[in-house]
Formats: sequence, structure tokens, C-alpha cells
Amino acid sequence: MSVDPTSAGSDANGTAAASVDPSVYVQDGSILVGISRQGREISPEMIELRLANRHGLITGATGTGKTVTLQVLAEGFSAAGVPVFAADIKGDLAGIATMGTPKPVLVERAKEMGLNAYGHCAFPTVFWDIFGDNGHPVRATVQEMGPLLISRLLELTEPQEGVLNIAFRWAADEREAGDTNMQIVDLQDLRAVIDEMGKKAATLRSKYGNIAPQTVGVIQRRLLVLEEQGATKFFGEPALDINDFIRTTPDGRGVINLLAAEKLMNTPRLYASYLLWMLNELFEKLPEVGDLEKPKLVFLFDEAHLLFTDAPKAVLDQIERVTRLIRSKGVGIYYVTQSPGDVPDRISAQLGNRIQHALRAFTPKEQKAIRAAAETFRANPEIDTERAILELRVGEALVSFLHNKGEPSIVQRTLIRPPMSRVGPLKPAERKAIVEADTDNRTKYTIPLDRETALETLKARNTPGGKIVQGIKKFGNLFGLK
Ligand SMILES: Nc1ncnc2c1ncn2[C@@H]1O[C@H](COP(=O)(O)OP(=O)(O)OP(=O)(O)O)[C@@H](O)[C@H]1O
Ligand SMILES: [Mg+2]
Repeated sequence: MSVDPTSAGSDANGTAAASVDPSVYVQDGSILVGISRQGREISPEMIELRLANRHGLITGATGTGKTVTLQVLAEGFSAAGVPVFAADIKGDLAGIATMGTPKPVLVERAKEMGLNAYGHCAFPTVFWDIFGDNGHPVRATVQEMGPLLISRLLELTEPQEGVLNIAFRWAADEREAGDTNMQIVDLQDLRAVIDEMGKKAATLRSKYGNIAPQTVGVIQRRLLVLEEQGATKFFGEPALDINDFIRTTPDGRGVINLLAAEKLMNTPRLYASYLLWMLNELFEKLPEVGDLEKPKLVFLFDEAHLLFTDAPKAVLDQIERVTRLIRSKGVGIYYVTQSPGDVPDRISAQLGNRIQHALRAFTPKEQKAIRAAAETFRANPEIDTERAILELRVGEALVSFLHNKGEPSIVQRTLIRPPMSRVGPLKPAERKAIVEADTDNRTKYTIPLDRETALETLKARNTPGGKIVQGIKKFGNLFGLK
């Protein structure tokens, strides 16, 4: 391991931090996550890269070390040349972009694990932000997000969702019929389409079914609420090209994409819908690749319970399907949440690599959850799994990773290694410098694109001249129109 104390940062006491090449944590196709004790022996606990697309689950009560574990995973994947996407819920994952310092708690952990050459380094990081304040703006078009996720965002009932579906279908049919600008890009477009559909309900009924004026009214009001939550910024163009997440640096490290999610968490549905949209995009845009030596991308999904809470069956079906099938596109998803019970069984069954931090058991329900969590592990005769879950220290976890042909290893009580990058947030100026230095993404995403879409198209149609054109179009065959 190369240690060069001269190129070091320093901690608050001015103690020098030794820099380290992170690839020392990647050996024989595995990344080191921590160390367990088996009798007197110590044993490295590693995620095998070739099985890292079989997904994972990281759980634990607040303050038990989940975010640090995420940071350790992101560092390991990046060092192995695997790009990473993660949502930074509290801003405390952002430190990964800069070199860490030898904080006593981290040095102590390194010592306890016998990591003699513990050192520090920064990781290549790209910051994204739906609001465009703390990273490159990420936008999606309403059309790409689709009626299922938009309905969930608007908290529509099933019949209301039916009417929203009609809006999407009608706009698609209009495009098909030659009006290619009838694109639903932003919320204004969606509003214009809904308004127009409401006005034309009587003529559209025969083709699309009933469009009740009250339902149109409900959707309009919900759209207003969504706009007030700041979602206007989130829909538009240029939309995020998901391939921009899949980058490596010239020296072979995977780029870590961090989505600033602090503000976004005020609107949990927006957060969940957005991340689900990203997963869908990855699923739809990436080709089938089968089993690779290492994943193409790893997706770390913090606060994952937000995906599942109150989700209608159609959304759960979609999550289940994407989780199951995205594996063969070379993407590994790691869900992070407090209790394993937050994840529905049929999704949980597909999460092979497991890290369980401590849980608390104050109520009978919590005790039951601990029993259930313990039962998901392959038993180790040396460990009382249920008891261990209660006793685990901060930054310690029960770990079981897939090995051999993909079967889970027996559960091990594991000390998670300390990160090499900074544990904690970045200063605004540090973040700004990183965002500004990233000219490719800045050029591509900073300035919103405003082209003619459904809003302008419908406005033009509703001018006196436009109405005449529409009238003539009805007799298109007679006038030789397409
Ligand atoms: N592997 C580790 N090695 C050393 N210290 C650790 C480790 N993991 C966690 N810690 C210490 O515990 C603190 C809390 O950890 P962390 O922020 O990861 O908890 P969390 O589970 O994400 O909490 P929350 O649910 O509140 O977000 C860290 O700031 C760090 O000081
Ligand atoms: Mg955390």
C-alpha cells in the first residue's frame, strides 16, 4: 500500500492525513467492506463484483452507521471502476468527494481491524440536484415519467388515473396524426392538455370513454399543489440522459453521482417517483448484457421505504419487475432503510447482499421485526443472530454476501471499515468548485431548453386562425391534407 504523508490534508488538530490508493481495497474481483472474527482468526468480508448485480439491502436504526456503510460501498465500487449513483439524503455523503482526515473514531476503527496502512483519498464525484442549486439540474419530461408515476405524484384514485391516462393517450394520438409538437414535456404542457381535454370531453368520449368534469377539476387542483411544491423545475428539457451516470475517470475509477436530496425529502413522493423513474430509464435504455465481471452501475437507494409506503399495487409490481430484470442489464440496486420489514417480501427476496446494523426493540412489534430480520440470514452456529442485532455497535453489522454460485454466506458479525474520504458534508464553496469544474455536464444541463410543445400547440389551435385550421383538418381528405 502506498502511503505518501506529504500530499496529505489535515484534521482540525492539524494532524496530517496519509493519502492512499483506494484500489488496495479491491482484490481478486472483490471489494473489502469490513472484517469479522471467526474464533481467533480475522476474516475479510467482501462483496464479489461478479455477484454485485444481485442487489443488496442495508438496514439499521438511526445513527447505527448506514450512511457510512453506503460511503464505504460507494468508495469500493468506484475504486473497482464501477460507477455509482446515490441519493444524498442529509448531505452527509457529499464528503466522499474530498479527502478524509484521521478523525479519532475512524483511526480507532482502523486499529481495531488491524488496518495498518489506513489512509485517505478523494473520489471522483458529480453532483446533481433537481432544484439545480447544489448540483447540475436533473430534469425529466412528464411524458417519460408516464401516467403511472404522475398519478402517484398527484395522489389520484384509480378512476382519476383513468382520466389522466386518456390525456396521455390523446396527446400520443395527436402526435401520431402528425402534430409532432403535442409533447407533454413540463407541467404547463400537462395542464394545457388536461384543460383542452376537459373542454372537448363531449367529442372525445366516443373514442376514449367518459371524462367527468369533476375529475378534470381534481387533476387541475392537484397539479397546482405539485407546482407549489417546486416540481415545475423538475419537469422539462434537456432531460437527464441516464448514460451520463455511467462514466469512469481516465485512471479507471467509477464516477460517483450524488443526488442532493435534502430539499427533495420535503416532498417524499417526488423523491420516490423521481428515483423510480431513473430506475425505469436505466431498465429501458440499457441493453441486455447477462452476467458481467463487475456491474455497469450500482444504484444506492437510501430511504427506500418511501418507495413502498402506500404504493399502489401497480407501482409495487413495477418496482418488483424492474428489480428482477435490471440485473441482466448489469445494474445492482442496494436498498437502504431502517427495518428489513419496510421492503415487501417479493422485492426483499431478490436482495442477495445483506448488511444489517443494530435495531432497537422497544415494542412487541419491533421485537417481532428483529426475529424476522434474524431469520433472513443463513445461521452461524457461533452467533445468536437475534441477540446480536440488538447488541451491534455503531459501524458494526451482521453481514452476509453472495458467494460461489450465488448462495448467501453464513452470517458474520462484521466491523465495517472506516471510509477513506471525509465523513460528513462539504462546505458550499467546496461543492461549488466541483460543480463548476465539471464543464461537460454544465454545458449540457445548466440552461433549460424551451421549445414548442403541447402548451404552445394548443394555444395556437385556440386562436381564431388556429380554429379554422382545425376545422379544415376535420375534412382533411377533402382538402388533400394528411
Ligand atoms: N464504519 C465506521 N467506522 C467508524 N465510525 C463509524 C462507522 N460507521 C459509523 N461511524 C460513526 O457513527 C456516526 C453515525 O453514522 P451514520 O451517519 O452512518 O449513521 P446512520 O445510520 O446513517 O444514521 P441516520 O439514520 O441518522 O442517517 C458516523 O458519523 C461515525 O462517526
Ligand atoms: Mg444516514
